[in-house]
Amino acid sequence: MTKRGKFITLEGIEGAGKSSHLAFIQGFLQSAGKTVVLTREPGGTALGEKIRELLLDHRNEAMASDTELLLMFAARAQHLAQVICPALARGDWVLCDRFTDATYAYQGGGRGIAHSRIAAMEAWVQGELRPDLTLLLDVPEDIGLQRAGQRSTPDRFERERGEFFKRVRAAYLDMAKNYAARYRVIDAAQPLDKVQKEIQKILAVES
Ligand code: TMP
Repeated sequence: MTKRGKFITLEGIEGAGKSSHLAFIQGFLQSAGKTVVLTREPGGTALGEKIRELLLDHRNEAMASDTELLLMFAARAQHLAQVICPALARGDWVLCDRFTDATYAYQGGGRGIAHSRIAAMEAWVQGELRPDLTLLLDVPEDIGLQRAGQRSTPDRFERERGEFFKRVRAAYLDMAKNYAARYRVIDAAQPLDKVQKEIQKILAVES
């Protein structure tokens, strides 16, 4: 595929504030004249949203880690085919709430699945496609969990303990170091307006 639009992903642990910033990012890019497709993972298609329900349903607590990994990539394959690749090919910008870095962080760091297995799935499902820019909203897990804890019924991931999210966060920070060219780490423990200012500065360079 010849890629024309830019592919931006937003990552972070629970309570990092992704949802508060998505609309802001979309608005900023639109005002810079970009056509933006805002989407999310797991999900982003009718089929993917059904897979998301399976993944998040706390009643599926017996789900094996490999099942979880395969479902994430099943939803992703559909998302790429139906939404992401066509949008990029049209020249649209894609803003995605989580992508494969979340798999490395949660299924890799959190669940302990070997990096090589995830990398094999990534190559299979995505080929060469990687995000152009990844914004990591970084927050210590105790602050993130405190914020996320204020939400109603916790899903299957939100039920995990602090140790799990500590590993998830560490995996994200490792990736930020290893893929420094596309990663921007933002201190999301700061007040919302400061976080937005940082995001704005980053996007102004990109767009
Ligand atoms: P959300 O809270 O951002 O809507 O994402 C739903 C959950 O799915 C979140 O706890 C992180 C998890 N997740 C993974 O474990 N692996 C993945 O590859 C993705 C995209 C999400």
